[in-house]
Amino acid sequence: MTTKRILSGMQPTNNLHLGNYLGALKNWVKIQEEDAECLYCVVDLHAVTVPQDPAKLKQSTREIAAAYIAAGIDPKRSTIFVQSSVPEHSQLMWALSTMTQVGKLNRMTQFKDKAGKNAEKAGLGLYAYPVLMAADILIYKATHVPVGDDQRQHLELARDIAATFNHRFEDDFFPLPESLILGEGTRVMSLRDGTSKMSKSDASDLSRINFTDDADTIAKKIRKAKTDPDPLPNDEKDFGDRAEARNLISIYAALNDQSVADVLEEYGGQEFSKFKPALADLAVSKLDPINSRMNELLSDVGELDRILEAGGAKARSIASPIMNDVYAQMGFWGHAK
Ligand code: ADP
Ligand code: TRP
Repeated sequence: MTTKRILSGMQPTNNLHLGNYLGALKNWVKIQEEDAECLYCVVDLHAVTVPQDPAKLKQSTREIAAAYIAAGIDPKRSTIFVQSSVPEHSQLMWALSTMTQVGKLNRMTQFKDKAGKNAEKAGLGLYAYPVLMAADILIYKATHVPVGDDQRQHLELARDIAATFNHRFEDDFFPLPESLILGEGTRVMSLRDGTSKMSKSDASDLSRINFTDDADTIAKKIRKAKTDPDPLPNDEKDFGDRAEARNLISIYAALNDQSVADVLEEYGGQEFSKFKPALADLAVSKLDPINSRMNELLSDVGELDRILEAGGAKARSIASPIMNDVYAQMGFWGHAK
């Protein structure tokens, strides 16, 4: 019997980039091969924590779903669905928000980053975002959550909220979800600044490689990536503060399923002028097929919508009895265990 239940999600905002692929999506595909039940959602409710154009949101939601499938998530093996099509996420969020301390939300670095200097004007949704994320996970009693390193703190909070519920109502009701932060690409950095995260929201498009970039654009961005004049080190320990060099090597390792040490064995001592074209070829060879498949899937949204509908129905069939149990535990009228 399968005992692991995996859940993860991505927001339908702008384009996916290499960080999303190496930090999350690529690992989701791998986990699917294991003995685990996998649920992968497009978290549209999270996306609207910052204003979205309604017509674009619908399109981006399909694009993310297409990217999941194009990258190798098989709808026959994994449940692919849209967060808002399962109302229990929002219902559980309310219940959990009553047992989340604001002091803990105040410590969330993603909120601080996104709200910026004017936190007083930030929306309640942006602030409460991590509680919804906890609900996404707990509504399925998921045991493992594959994410990039930036989500570590949110996962800790989800465990914390689960433990509070269990303590208050029923021991072991929710499993404490574990984060799966895997591989060499858990924190892909900007191509322009090796100390800041590659992100959709960076003003410079040269800072990231998008799923939709063609081969020439990828090669150009890698050629222009910030580096230093020294050759690559022979040993991982010798990167020192060469954040950009470390980042490019880590990207190569993650794309090629190698360790950083393996890559240095091949490229240690060489100049960036040698390494960068090899990295560009590798990135194109991995991203190009995904990009083409994504476009194919988007040319027939009927099929994509059918997959999402079926995924939503499957997800609801898991979420609904768990929601009922939560309401029953809390003493809501009309709900019994
Ligand atoms: P973004 O952070 O780009 O807005 P999401 O919030 O939708 O994208 O993140 C989706 C997944 O991609 C998460 O699991 C997140 O940890 C991962 N991720 C995002 N950026 C990076 C990055 N630079 N390196 C590694 N993983 C990342
Ligand atoms: N918060 C995640 C991010 O910004 C996205 C997300 C929402 C998520 N709900 C989730 C990830 C549940 C894993 C599990 O990347």
